[in-house]
Amino acid sequence: MSVGKSIIRVDSFEKLTGQADYVEDLYMSGMLYAKVFRSPVAHGVIRSLDISEAEKSEGVHGVFTAADIPGKNIIPVIFDDQVFLADRKVLYPGQPIAVIAAETPEQAEKAARLIKIDIDELEALVDFEKSRQSNIKIFGDNNIFCTYKVKKGDVDKEIKDTDNIVLRDRFYVQHQEHAYLEPQGALAYWEDNTLTVRGSMQAPFYVQHALSKTMGMKKSRIRVIQQTTGGAFGGKEDVPNIVCSQAALCAYHLRRPVRLVYDREEDMQTMSKRHPAYTDIELVSDKNGNIRAIRGEYVENAGAFATLTPAVLYRGVIHLTGPYDIPSVDVVGEAVATNTVPNGAYRGFGSPQVIFAMESMLDMLAEKIGISPVEIREINLLKPGDKTCTGQKVDDSMGMQEVFRKCMEESDYYGLLKEAELFNKDNPHKKRGVGVSTLYYGVGLGAAGKHMSRASSVVKIDGDGSVNVSVGVTEMGQGLRTVATQMAAEYLGIGPDMVTTTQIDSSRILDTGPTVASRGTITAGWGILSALSKIRKILIKYLEKKYNKKIEDIHFADGRVRFGNHDMEYSDFIAMCTEDKVTLQAAGLHVPPDCTFDENGQGDAYYVYAWGMNVLVTEVNLLTGEVDLKKAICCHDVGKAINPREVKGQIMGGSLQGLGYGLMEDMQISGQGKVLTRNFSTYAIPTSCDYPEWKAVFVESEYSKGPYGAKGFGEQPLMGMAPALTNSIYNACGARLKKIPAIPERVLEVLWEDEK
Ligand code: MTE
Ligand code: MOS
Repeated sequence: MSVGKSIIRVDSFEKLTGQADYVEDLYMSGMLYAKVFRSPVAHGVIRSLDISEAEKSEGVHGVFTAADIPGKNIIPVIFDDQVFLADRKVLYPGQPIAVIAAETPEQAEKAARLIKIDIDELEALVDFEKSRQSNIKIFGDNNIFCTYKVKKGDVDKEIKDTDNIVLRDRFYVQHQEHAYLEPQGALAYWEDNTLTVRGSMQAPFYVQHALSKTMGMKKSRIRVIQQTTGGAFGGKEDVPNIVCSQAALCAYHLRRPVRLVYDREEDMQTMSKRHPAYTDIELVSDKNGNIRAIRGEYVENAGAFATLTPAVLYRGVIHLTGPYDIPSVDVVGEAVATNTVPNGAYRGFGSPQVIFAMESMLDMLAEKIGISPVEIREINLLKPGDKTCTGQKVDDSMGMQEVFRKCMEESDYYGLLKEAELFNKDNPHKKRGVGVSTLYYGVGLGAAGKHMSRASSVVKIDGDGSVNVSVGVTEMGQGLRTVATQMAAEYLGIGPDMVTTTQIDSSRILDTGPTVASRGTITAGWGILSALSKIRKILIKYLEKKYNKKIEDIHFADGRVRFGNHDMEYSDFIAMCTEDKVTLQAAGLHVPPDCTFDENGQGDAYYVYAWGMNVLVTEVNLLTGEVDLKKAICCHDVGKAINPREVKGQIMGGSLQGLGYGLMEDMQISGQGKVLTRNFSTYAIPTSCDYPEWKAVFVESEYSKGPYGAKGFGEQPLMGMAPALTNSIYNACGARLKKIPAIPERVLEVLWEDEK
């Protein structure tokens, strides 16, 4: 048995010993180095661009501008608003304008400094709250990229009902930088008359599609291979379309390998981030704490181009109401343009912003009613058979109630409260508090992305019984290749050492959509089971013919194969099949359950949900405003845990990333739209030193339609950490933070304001 075991990661050895090749480790003979020339201003019209000096500079083989793009000057994502290289207007600081290829990175860099540009600078729109009314137009006539709504029941009626309690407030969140260890990078070269790109990426099929547009080539002549990827977190979903196109443009013209790797500063200043946003919430409950209605307005700062914003906003509006049974809902989401770096996918996809708002609001409401944060959740949490804000009945793999019970128990919530109380009695300047958050997560692309929702794989069994598995989803550190290995091994009843997963290559496998939205495990599993069930059918046919009798089924278990009254060693069985020339190879394609979302935002928005709860204990220093996390208990319903250790790893890593979001990650943008926080000396992220007592717990409510009962949960450990943190700060000292991160100056400001 392989599924459910904590086998060692299949890629751990090569990564630990430094043998894994990241883009920057790749070298090819004749390889050139690329550098991007970027807009120095946030908003303007290009008057002239002079590349003549740069072209003559030592070691330079080519300087390419929009005029050299063989295909279209767009980076396709959802809308086609983003140009590949700016030729007329520039809309954010750092927008790409030209790409240089030279013999050394230094020569490329020097040439970039020789490019002369004359820009008529225009006033920049940086404050997203002013975007809709601004005279500065970045997108359309109102700067609104997209709008989504979720509506049911009658919110106004509930608000007007004088028996009800109504609370209103606004919550702000900041940018968050992905801080993947490996920056963006790509290597482009020609092989077999095919333009080949190896890159650090989550979505090779996006890249293949983008290159077919920018290079104006057939997809079959573009081969995209995912190179070992050193972390992604959403930051390598659509962005590699840009990076790979830049490297490919040089290779296209020069017919030499071209490598492009961003340095940290360039990466931080010009690559996507989590959307800053504000959320207005009006929450209505009866006197006992039963939530009757919610009105929400969620406004995201998308930056200069739409990129993935519609997908991010879609998830945001559906997740705003949380895992609660609320009869009347009126949620509107809007994403607006600014002259800042385009924001995109980041673990949680638009949901951490609104979860921060709703989970804070819920605590505020509980206090107003006079019940505890835990009680208000207990009263309102969805139960199996209840309906979400989109009217979707949740009865399959619905572990919310169990998550709540388990998290309360594992944390000893009431014990923690008592402990904090005792501590606070003895400490005048330091106060401890306990905070909670509960949340849900729609697994997969949902109705908004269903056109991309499919799972393909190719499985090949060699004569010695060892197996090659290719899936259309990528490994980015989350353990995808390990769980794919386990699921294939499980099906065939063999050890995981018999299975090899191959690096994803667009020439080998069908478009499976992007590896995002926590769909990796379920998608890999569906694809693998689809291919293996085809092989099973081939085998049954072959056996029936060989033995001239009806074979009902084949059983693979413990390295043996059983059918009819035969019982063979797996290796002998495969050797026999190979000798008899059976096609021990198949390509599988699985189409996941359908999702729907009508004009009122009603429908089965996602095929399944995962559920989570966090309990945090923090200590606030009343003199300095410093917040110290003491304990974290994070519990998630993950469906079947294919690899329990990897599940815990995801819970710990994701929670820590969420802690960073809530506590310390503070990106500064200048009044002129420039990203000022450019490296890890000023952008502080949590490290292992910030790990207090941390308990990662999970519940396995299996998904009936998932492979071996699995679903997906990779993002949700991050999603509810910020409000659990700020709720604990409030519980400790009465400072209610309506804006994160909870940096000391902000905590003090709120404390002092409250004293006034
Ligand atoms: N874990 C690691 N180590 N590295 C990553 O880049 N990305 C996260 C999460 N966990 C990420 C990670 C994000 S944003 C997603 S969508 C999921 O992993 C994707 O993987 P899965 O679908 O296989 O869970
Ligand atoms: Mo994850 S933000 O969906 O890549």
